[in-house]
Amino acid sequence: MRAVEVIMKKRGSLLNPEGSELTREELEFLVGGYVRGEIPDYQISSWAMAVYFNGMTFAETAALTDIMLHSGDTIDLEEVRKATGYTLPFVDKHSTGGVGDKMSLPLAPIVAACGVKIPMMSGRALGHTGGTLDKLESIKGYKVGLTPETFRDIIIKTGYAMTGQTKQIVPADRLLYALRDVTGTVESIPLITASILSKKVAEGSDALVFDVKYGSGAFMKTKDAATDLANSLVKTAQAMGKKASALITCMETPLGYKIGNFLELEETYDILQGKGPEDTTELTYALGAEMLILAGLAKTREEGVELCKKAVSSGKAMELFLENIRLQGGDPDAFVKACADGSGRTPFVRSIKAKQDGWLVIDAFKAGLAGVALGVGRNRTEEKVSGGAGFILKKRQGDYVKYGEEIMQVYGKDDACFADALPQLESSVSYSPTQPEKPELIYKTIR
Ligand code: URA
Repeated sequence: MRAVEVIMKKRGSLLNPEGSELTREELEFLVGGYVRGEIPDYQISSWAMAVYFNGMTFAETAALTDIMLHSGDTIDLEEVRKATGYTLPFVDKHSTGGVGDKMSLPLAPIVAACGVKIPMMSGRALGHTGGTLDKLESIKGYKVGLTPETFRDIIIKTGYAMTGQTKQIVPADRLLYALRDVTGTVESIPLITASILSKKVAEGSDALVFDVKYGSGAFMKTKDAATDLANSLVKTAQAMGKKASALITCMETPLGYKIGNFLELEETYDILQGKGPEDTTELTYALGAEMLILAGLAKTREEGVELCKKAVSSGKAMELFLENIRLQGGDPDAFVKACADGSGRTPFVRSIKAKQDGWLVIDAFKAGLAGVALGVGRNRTEEKVSGGAGFILKKRQGDYVKYGEEIMQVYGKDDACFADALPQLESSVSYSPTQPEKPELIYKTIR
């Protein structure tokens, strides 16, 4: 078999512009060869672009997910059951990515405080969207490349652990994810499905909640495209023997007040104190309720939301969150102090002020791209992100502003980055003469 022939089969030709379905053997040849270092980046980029344009059948998507899943070790959580007597399903949530989308951070301790065990394997910043692992690493000392033993041990102790793809676990996703990020091949339903599910099944979850975003700041721009992705995720998960549901949620404008890496941890700390912004709190509770339904601890969303609220008001969720920081290598006291005194932010600060009077509209995609220029995400795979970069929304979509009022406080990785980032951030803001309609935060649930 030759890689170029497999690529051309997917790419198609003038007579067959949609290309043809690849067999499991052909996919195994490409992806397995890539992980073993036998097939170079440029051929995999080319194949990913062919998939971007021509898509994949359900059989191809399921085969790719399975091949990626078995590209490394999988985590067996039986020891967690034995050590703790846990009998419920292991449940996790995964978002398709957005701007200010920090929900995994408060969600895991809240749902763990309700009695569900969560093995969470997350990703890094991708394109204009932030990444849970990059956010967590902005906590000094926090480690996300856990061995399976440490991962299990931390779940036993706090009910949840946070890790990333490693050389041992889903190496195919670790490589492909980084490559897609810089080759314009992220926004593909089959590639997103295989990327998310290979991680989620490898980590040992029995049930999964997907937060599928639609809107300018999402990879799926329309509600219909997000619904297709949600169906692909739920159907493929179920074919792999997992319980699954999906919430389709709005990503037209950034979520919450704080966007960045450490800045999103500051907001997480607020959410866990019951003082978070309305939208991020509502979404955290809705996703938490869905996880509790899959675990069998709640019958309805309302019941689940009540349990999540109690986990916060009792302080139990915060306790687990701080304990998790300690167990994963951070210092909880230093973290709390940094949240209070702003020392987790960079010292390079600017302000964006209203250019005219009007009702604010803030575009999530443009704001996310500006975030990359500030240092929140990366342009090249080997680039490091800045833990302290990002921006705080002093005013949000739908607020009325007067000329000269401060809209955003902006933190850059250095002084030089503002030359690019500030005009980009300014271009994410427009002023409407009428109040913009508030988009529905949760559009639909697929169970
Ligand atoms: N999240 C993932 O884990 N993978 C993708 O491809 C997109 C979002």
